[in-house]
Amino acid sequence: VDIAFTARLDADERSAWLRALKAACPGHRWIDMGDGEGPPVKANAEVAVVANPAPGALAGLTGLRLVQSLWAGVERLVADSTLPPEVPLARMVDPSMNDAMAETALWAVLSLHRSYFDYAQQQREGVWRQLPQRRAATVRVLVLGFGAMGRAVSVRLAALGYRVTAWRREGSAHAAGVDVISGQPALHAALPKAEILINLLPVTPQTRGVLSRELFTCLPRGAGVVNLGRGAHLVEADLLAALADGHVGRAVLDVFAEEPLPADHPFWRHPRVTVLPHVAALTDLDTAASVVADNLRRLALGEPLRHLVKRARGY
Ligand code: NAP
Ligand code: GLV
Repeated sequence: VDIAFTARLDADERSAWLRALKAACPGHRWIDMGDGEGPPVKANAEVAVVANPAPGALAGLTGLRLVQSLWAGVERLVADSTLPPEVPLARMVDPSMNDAMAETALWAVLSLHRSYFDYAQQQREGVWRQLPQRRAATVRVLVLGFGAMGRAVSVRLAALGYRVTAWRREGSAHAAGVDVISGQPALHAALPKAEILINLLPVTPQTRGVLSRELFTCLPRGAGVVNLGRGAHLVEADLLAALADGHVGRAVLDVFAEEPLPADHPFWRHPRVTVLPHVAALTDLDTAASVVADNLRRLALGEPLRHLVKRARGY
């Protein structure tokens, strides 16, 4: 089939993606639409494979039967009014990406729990001081989101012995050492115990701005906040205020309202904020290309497509 490809990446990365995709999905004709920033390219393409395209980038395509995202988060595609609602939209769900996210979350939780950020500061200052050491089994972690990413993170943290609660939209259970909850009352009951909070929600009208003053004031004083979801989840001014008043002790932030984070942003130099450049789980070219290949095969055979987004729900 004819496959349109657009990715907001630099030219080298885009060529590497095309190489990996062509190798994993042979026999198709690939139409490279560049970074999708200019006027929409007119083409007839049954499939569009996209990485975080600009709104309207797919508006010139006709005959679309599938839009396959190379990104896990698809809030921009969901919000793109030029994308016909009847065209199936699949997002990236890749076990190797879930593993990468779990590694980032484990590093952040261990660093917060075992005071490694404080020891790094002490080393810069030449200070020899032993801080209290607690067992993981006494530390409560709350994970917002129990989807592909949140589940991988929660299960691994529970396996290390942490007391893990995970919040999802619907359903509750106790599985693999994780207490899974849903609904606002359950969240409000969990927040005052959450010494470390990890956000792995998708951006939807319900979750935008969820990391706000209202939530921070419910946390125990000195809590750690780890945002691995999206910048749109965080009210940045509220976090700065919560850091100043001590409700939040330290924040680890991977995603921001504006990326790259502007040079004069206070997060860069805040002594209790750790900034990562949106690297919590990078998409792996080869494994992601095989996820795309599987959906192309399913499309050809008329089998159910995987990882479809429910557009009305927003994720
Ligand atoms: P997913 O599988 O769609 O999981 C989303 C989870 O959020 C589900 O458990 C869902 O509940 C829950 N949820 C959605 N709306 C909610 C609401 N209003 N209240 C409570 N829970 C709600 O998504 P995923 O693959 O885990 O990815 C999650 C997000 O991670 C992505 O959307 C993206 O923003 C972010 N991400 C970041 C990076 C990075 O490098 N920083 C990389 C990849 C992804 P149900 O289980 O009840 O449906
Ligand atoms: C990265 O943030 C993604 O959504 O894949």
